[in-house]
Amino acid sequence: MARSILVTGGAGFIGSNFVLRTVATSDVHVVNLDKLTYAGNPHNLDSLRGSSRYAFVQGDIQDRELVRSLLRTYNVCAVVHFAAESHVDRSILGPEEFIRTNVGGTFALLEEAKSYWQSLAGEAKSGFRFLHVSTDEVYGSLGPKDPAFTESTAYAPNSPYAASKAASDHLVRAYHHTYGLHTLTSNCSNNYGPYQFPEKLIPLTILNALNGKAIPVYGDGKNVRDWLYVEDHCDAISTILAHGKPGETYNVGGSSEKANIEVVQTICELMDELVPQSASRPHQLLIKFVTDRPGHDRRYAVDASKLRRELGWQPRENFRGGIRKTIEWYLGHKEWLDSVVSGTYKDWIAAQYATR
Ligand code: NAD
Ligand code: TYD
Repeated sequence: MARSILVTGGAGFIGSNFVLRTVATSDVHVVNLDKLTYAGNPHNLDSLRGSSRYAFVQGDIQDRELVRSLLRTYNVCAVVHFAAESHVDRSILGPEEFIRTNVGGTFALLEEAKSYWQSLAGEAKSGFRFLHVSTDEVYGSLGPKDPAFTESTAYAPNSPYAASKAASDHLVRAYHHTYGLHTLTSNCSNNYGPYQFPEKLIPLTILNALNGKAIPVYGDGKNVRDWLYVEDHCDAISTILAHGKPGETYNVGGSSEKANIEVVQTICELMDELVPQSASRPHQLLIKFVTDRPGHDRRYAVDASKLRRELGWQPRENFRGGIRKTIEWYLGHKEWLDSVVSGTYKDWIAAQYATR
């Protein structure tokens, strides 16, 4: 049987980009296990309908029987684990699902991957990989002059989201050290690009600019994130999967630190240029400073030199070019935006921003 990888959360933002790219650029078979929470959209993968190298399974990573059967049925040679609750603001309002999926779900996957891997022999066993896709937020917040996070920076997660990802990273580490499972962990900075759900800063800003609505900037707008175009993250994941050393962790980042206000201003400038007929020009007038997020991390910055030095990866896209591409994608996919901005999305926006 053909070689298959089991992707979890492949109907979400980064997972969709990864699945589309993997099917397009390799001969591997992709099985996508996704629960289809509010953040998962199977239409992202409509172009793969009918492909003999893609299978979609709706299900929960905590369903151990299902995971067990998928690993064996598809003769899986690697798990690439994206599935998670991923939005910090939601984790502040309701942390429980974050613990269930990010910690309990990762544990369930690790247990099943371990049993399956132990049943393999020879090259199938030595070649098996479990790649855990994680975040730079596990390292906590940096001061303005602190050096960027390296793989040896101590963990100091501050939000329930970051804490749940940190817990999952520790489990992955333990399964390598205790059982010898061939794990790999990537800790990546903030991503942006096509298919990102418009609850996160960049797509929310584009959507609100498009609709002439207020663009909410938390606090003084000077919190800094290190932005990476999603294609570059997917390329890093493929590189780590192919060449990473089992048991290692790799930081992934764009060396592109920007204050939130700068991000929002760049989007507004590009919207002025790309939508010249808009009644909302200049879009900067839509910016509204709102009450800060509780416990808001001030600065993230990633030192990705280990990945560059050891595996030869580096980002291709610069920030302005990536933002332009991203805006152009959203402008060309208004039906996608309309379809995700459903009743539950409106409820979220009302709960999150009405009293800010
Ligand atoms: P996302 O929220 O867009 O997608 C998550 C996907 O997981 C959705 O398709 C959802 O349906 C699925 N899912 C959720 N719970 C599930 C469960 N119990 N079982 C099966 N599927 C489930 O997330 P994203 O932004 O694409 O992030 C993917 C991964 O990358 C996450 O693990 C996140 O922590 C990590 N990450 C994200 C960023 C970023 O900037 N977005 C940066 C670094 C790391
Ligand atoms: P976000 O996209 O939620 O990612 P993360 O919290 O994982 O970094 O937010 C990015 C930054 O933008 C973060 O500093 C919070 C800020 N932000 C706003 O200022 N306004 C908003 O409406 C949102 C969603 C985020």
